[in-house]
Amino acid sequence: MRTWQPLEQLIGRIEQLSVLDRPADLVNGVLRKAIPQGSVEDALSGTPIGHPLHPAMVTVPIGAWTSSLVFDVIGDDTAARRLIAIGCVSALPTAAAGAADWMSTHGPERRVGLVHALLNYTALGAYAMSWLARRRGRRARGVMLSLAGAGLVSASGWLGGHLSYSLGIGVDTTVFEQLPEDWTDVTAETVLPADGEFVAADAGGVPVLLSRHNGTVTALADRCTHRGGPLHEGELDGGCVVCPWHGSAFSLADGSVQAGPATRPQAVLETRIENGRLQVRRQDRRTMRTQLADP
Ligand code: FES
Repeated sequence: MRTWQPLEQLIGRIEQLSVLDRPADLVNGVLRKAIPQGSVEDALSGTPIGHPLHPAMVTVPIGAWTSSLVFDVIGDDTAARRLIAIGCVSALPTAAAGAADWMSTHGPERRVGLVHALLNYTALGAYAMSWLARRRGRRARGVMLSLAGAGLVSASGWLGGHLSYSLGIGVDTTVFEQLPEDWTDVTAETVLPADGEFVAADAGGVPVLLSRHNGTVTALADRCTHRGGPLHEGELDGGCVVCPWHGSAFSLADGSVQAGPATRPQAVLETRIENGRLQVRRQDRRTMRTQLADP
């Protein structure tokens, strides 16, 4: 089946709308002041729960607003009004979580994200006016505003899906990387990094980050799970590598996220020296659990 061309063309035009870049930069500057890097941004990004927060939260306002239409159909305006209020209140933290994700986007995804946000805020305004109209006894006007809001939310949801499924926002960017399962030659022992340094290497076609910390050579997937930043260009901070793009910190020992906005850990590789060569292989999760269980 062929893709419906008008939709593809429309989204392509939005992605190319460079006129949005300047307002996007201005909005980003304001957001950066409101959402400083650190625990607030991490919480809104979903770092503590290991999953992007925004897609989990959108179900509340969308669910409440959609359910209000059902009560409009059966004529229960009180229930519809309450659900609209729940949708409007829950839309605010949902928007904040989306804003945190949007701040680390660039180019086409930033433009699409801006239009997505504008549609959402317009929908929020329509639902807020709908609630007000119903409160004043103007139900027909309230229903019309709700329908307008539903249309806007649908259009926005379509763009949100495009952001995730086509442009990879919120996706673990390493998910399709096939790290070697068998021991794979990477480099000579003599060119291994000095303590506190990073070296980029190739393990069976997958870029890996080699480091030596307290005398132990460690290997992580080099491509940051957040947006694909090259970790070998990052900095060492304690036992972590800090991504050069948005500052996520990953433990060199086990790849765990120590600071966001990343939500997913880096893949870890086992290392060994054989005949003067460093070899790596993907760490077996069962091995990890066994090691953790040992006293
Ligand atoms: S790419 Fe964003 S923190 Fe690494």
